[in-house]
Amino acid sequence: MKEKLISIQLIEYSSTDEMSTEEKNLLAEAEKATSSAYAPYSQFRVGAAILLENGEIITGSNQENTSYPNGICAERVAIHTAKNQYPDVAIKSIAVTASTDNFEIASPISPCGMCRQVIAETENRQKNHIKIIMKGERGPVLVANSIEDLLPLLFHEEKLKKN
Ligand code: THU
Repeated sequence: MKEKLISIQLIEYSSTDEMSTEEKNLLAEAEKATSSAYAPYSQFRVGAAILLENGEIITGSNQENTSYPNGICAERVAIHTAKNQYPDVAIKSIAVTASTDNFEIASPISPCGMCRQVIAETENRQKNHIKIIMKGERGPVLVANSIEDLLPLLFHEEKLKKN
């Protein structure tokens, strides 16, 4: 028996002032996208913005349902929209943020497990890393350069084949 240590790497910015204009713009688009959220059950409005390799920005917001499991996260709305509109254009980065009237979100919003798996599939499909930029309403910004840093030991397509 041996213990294995897996490390992940994240970048933390204490404020958006430290970030590139490209990253700041994408976060601003994610913030705007929170306004189209349909979140009457959680009152937690999430916005995601995707930057494509061709410079296009695609946004998404969470869409809830009275039958709760039918709801879908902002990240998956944005990713599926991007891949529907531009199936062959790689995703460079995705910014995620949220807002609520109930309290101030003071730490970064990170994608849920299902969204992480979808980001993993997309990275694998395009063979290029996707940068994930995460922010609350205030507080630090966290950046992961690949889904591998948010979903270590991820399940991917290779596992379906005999090795
Ligand atoms: N949600 C997202 O849209 N993205 C996340 O990364 C976390 C959670 C949504 C789902 C639900 O509508 C609400 O936030 C509360 O969980």
